[in-house]
Amino acid sequence: MKKVLFVCLGNICRSPTAEAVFRAKVKQSGLEQVIVHDSCGTAGYHVGEAPDRRATQAAQKRGYPMSDLRGRQVCDEDFEEFDYILAMDRSNYSDLKRRAPEHHHPKIQLFLKYSSTDEREVPDPYYGGAEGFDYVLDLVEDACDGLLQRLQDEL
Ligand code: 4NP
Repeated sequence: MKKVLFVCLGNICRSPTAEAVFRAKVKQSGLEQVIVHDSCGTAGYHVGEAPDRRATQAAQKRGYPMSDLRGRQVCDEDFEEFDYILAMDRSNYSDLKRRAPEHHHPKIQLFLKYSSTDEREVPDPYYGGAEGFDYVLDLVEDACDGLLQRLQDEL
């Protein structure tokens, strides 16, 4: 069993997008029984909320439903529970490292470590236009492929 947690700031744009794309790819690969996934935010502004409508629309266009997901904030148990804690940007990464006990630090990684591109951060699309959400999906789809490959190699 492998457990993956995607983390951004608000848990309404990037990390739910990553979760929606990843769960579709996990399902396609037939590994739903052995790969668990969730997402959360470092901040609590959007706890209980559905994802941002722009994120949901962009994901739906590519065949990834995500309107069922709800925002939550990272909690101490997450550092025990998950094997991979994947930050969307360096700010999320440093917030997670500050919060986590030191022996869990190796689990905390930049999500785009698994990307085939040179990009290492998924830029926050919240204050921009629709094109920012499409770019998030481009990065997320690519990194989810790399992540899934990595997990398949480990299982
Ligand atoms: P996310 O985007 O971290 O990708 O979910 C944001 C959502 C909300 C806010 C910032 C970023 N906010 O400031 O409310």
